[in-house]
Amino acid sequence: MTPFDARLAAIPDVTVLTGEEEMAPHFTDWRRRYSGRARAVAFPGTVEAVAAVVRLCHETGTPVWPQGGNTGICGGSVPGGDGAGIVLCLGRLNRIRDVSPGDDSITVDAGVTLQAVQEAAEGIGRLFPLSLGAEGSCQIGGNIATNAGGTAVVRYGTMRDLVLGVEAVLADGTVWNGLRSLRKNNTGLDLKQLMIGTEGTLGIVTGATLRLFPRPVSRVTALLHFTSAAEVLETAQAMRAAFPGEVDALELLSASQVEIVARHFPQLALPLPGGAAWSLLVEIAGGRAEEEMLDGLAAALEPMLEAGTLVDAVIGQNARQREAIWAQRHTVTEANVREGMGLTHDIAVPIARIGDFLAEAEAMLAEHYPQARQVVVSHVGDGNLHWIAMFSHEDWAGIPDPEAVQADLDRRAYDIAHAMGGTFSAEHGVGSIHIGEMRRYKDPAELALMRTVKAALDPAGILNPGRVVPA
Ligand code: FAD
Ligand code: LAC
Ligand code: ZN
Repeated sequence: MTPFDARLAAIPDVTVLTGEEEMAPHFTDWRRRYSGRARAVAFPGTVEAVAAVVRLCHETGTPVWPQGGNTGICGGSVPGGDGAGIVLCLGRLNRIRDVSPGDDSITVDAGVTLQAVQEAAEGIGRLFPLSLGAEGSCQIGGNIATNAGGTAVVRYGTMRDLVLGVEAVLADGTVWNGLRSLRKNNTGLDLKQLMIGTEGTLGIVTGATLRLFPRPVSRVTALLHFTSAAEVLETAQAMRAAFPGEVDALELLSASQVEIVARHFPQLALPLPGGAAWSLLVEIAGGRAEEEMLDGLAAALEPMLEAGTLVDAVIGQNARQREAIWAQRHTVTEANVREGMGLTHDIAVPIARIGDFLAEAEAMLAEHYPQARQVVVSHVGDGNLHWIAMFSHEDWAGIPDPEAVQADLDRRAYDIAHAMGGTFSAEHGVGSIHIGEMRRYKDPAELALMRTVKAALDPAGILNPGRVVPA
């Protein structure tokens, strides 16, 4: 045992793993795309234990790789460097500290899963709206660190909009308690923002106070099938106008995506009518009676059905049917992992440019990579497209230089988005995989400011070094 290992093992309330087999699950991400190594995996059981671990790492210059549910998509959740650092897992910090109906807030440890927060909110008749496919495994700390998005952003915003207060351990081991539930607080810099969307590079989130909302009285979910993307985009806008403040989700799926889910999860398949190239999942929720919402939806869709632009509409009539529609949507990532090598691009463009992006990206793929299939799943109401070039496992294995193909395709897709005022990461973050894009697309003045902030908060560079902010 080295002196470092002995000191780590001596910290109270910390479980330390050092066996190769027991550490292995923490070295590779959920999709099995990225992996790394570390000398140990530490599971602190208290905030003070997190602080003691970070203090030790600060003193010894040891890299700290924070890890939540390990469901992140940009390679930031697994250790990097030469293996000399430690993985710091927040999963044992899993207490719901306080749920306050009077304050419409909930205060939790960082390691509580998103689903557990949703359920705790439901327990007091409230809603915690963040919703995404990984909600059973991802943790609130990870959601904060990545500023997670998901399917309800169109109404409730991203995680940034849902965080009222943060508690974090800073790079020198100081515990900063910023847990407040105030809706208004103009007392200087809003420091909690330093911990949101910065992917564990400026501090370790150990707790958070989150906003809760009233639960809608009724909910209507529909799956609409169209022949052209332009009609989907028009309909998405029409839904917002027809149901002001009540649109909970606007999710676009390409026919290729629906087919992939059906192939790998036949039990979840919802039939795709002939001629449908695109599906739009719409969810409306509000304080009115369900019948009234259903009537309103039928009236809004009627002209499109008559004109033939809307090929078919499946309206979820009860909770089971609504769940079936959502199950298809929430299974896309799992189905895509089984299907082949999907090169995913988490594009954001101005909402008005979504159609242009789709047209240009499809033409680019057909010209340069005709063997790949275009797969699209999109939070279309937010201008966020998961634009995927799907290669079969066989085709991908036959490519002599896959890294060059990935780099070339990434650059072509991101250049298209950038030229439209868009960006290369909408909701998944930067992690370890987008450092090159940060250098290429971010304004040098912005990069310089980011480096200044990083140097001020983590002068020794021990927190997720080399990630998010390019050296
Ligand atoms: P991890 O993956 O463990 O970590 C992610 C990053 O945060 C890493 O850089 C890590 O170091 C850092 N980190 C984790 N915990 C802490 C902490 N307590 N303090 C400081 N830093 C920390 N994302 C979306 O935005 N929208 C989606 O719709 C969506 N759908 C998904 C569906 C599936 C099936 C999967 C597998 C992933 C999906 N994701 C989505 C991505 C992922 O779930 C989110 O990024 C999630 O917020 C990550 O949380 P996590 O706890 O798993 O964090
Ligand atoms: C989704 C993830 C991949 O939207 O962000 O399914
Ligand atoms: Zn998404």
